[in-house]
Amino acid sequence: MLLYAMPGQEQLAASLRSQTGLLAGTMSLRRFPDGETYIRILDQLHTEEVAILAQLHHPDEQFLSLLLLISTLRDLGVKRVGLIAPYLPYMRQDKRFAPGEGVSARYFANILGKHLDWLLCVDPHLHRIHDLTEVYTIPARAMTAVAPIADWISAHLDRPLVIGPDSESEQWAASVARLAGCEYEILNKIRHGDREVEVSVPVNTADLSCTPVLVDDIVSTGKTMIQAARQLLQAGYPQPVCIAVHGLFAPGALQEMQDAGLTVVTSNSIAGQHDQIDLAPLIASGLREMLEGTE
Ligand code: R5P
Repeated sequence: MLLYAMPGQEQLAASLRSQTGLLAGTMSLRRFPDGETYIRILDQLHTEEVAILAQLHHPDEQFLSLLLLISTLRDLGVKRVGLIAPYLPYMRQDKRFAPGEGVSARYFANILGKHLDWLLCVDPHLHRIHDLTEVYTIPARAMTAVAPIADWISAHLDRPLVIGPDSESEQWAASVARLAGCEYEILNKIRHGDREVEVSVPVNTADLSCTPVLVDDIVSTGKTMIQAARQLLQAGYPQPVCIAVHGLFAPGALQEMQDAGLTVVTSNSIAGQHDQIDLAPLIASGLREMLEGTE
């Protein structure tokens, strides 16, 4: 099967190919001077099914190119198109919080599902939507990066204490701690706005000499990690290490985290300078299960 890598995913695609036997799909994908997308598939397509590996952390800019690639492949005779989107965007607006708001998590799933035959992702932000099957009618599988995160912690840190910055992160923190063989704590977070969060540390019984390791699914503005780290320091812990599955890094976020003295580690769901945790083995195993299940 051919694997087409959208811009930014070339390295993860190479790693994935080496673990799966997928072949490199070749294409020319570029922007016209006015910003529209040009796509040309350079392969002779004799295959029924292809997979696309896409980086969608700026979905409003990247999504149309993806749809045009899917349409091009189908137009050239491909029958089945699957998407590997290690970071699945638009999962956080999963409810109408205020009258008149759009529930973009459902709408995005609806649009994507119409164009694909299957979907594979890693740690989507499942909160009020508990399972992808609630919003996707195509086969959709979510892998979790808790094992590679735990492996990274075990390989790099002595006496870790996993910290989830808010109640939503407990699903990752608890599993990571179990696999890394350490304790975990959950902090309290109140969000007042996109960039305003308040974090408090519960009266703790944990050993203050442990290395706190903040584990969350997403870093966007970095405010959650920064506030959590600040409160942990005030509570007497040493400087924490911050691990997120998906490093979205809104403009200025990384700089602000570095200015706060934080060590930041992410997976390579989104390529970047902190992507120390390789998801290729995890995605490879998910892909095998997905393809066996959809045969
Ligand atoms: C919350 O819903 C998520 O799990 C993350 O905690 C959140 O997206 C982090 O956002 P930020 O980096 O902007 O504080």
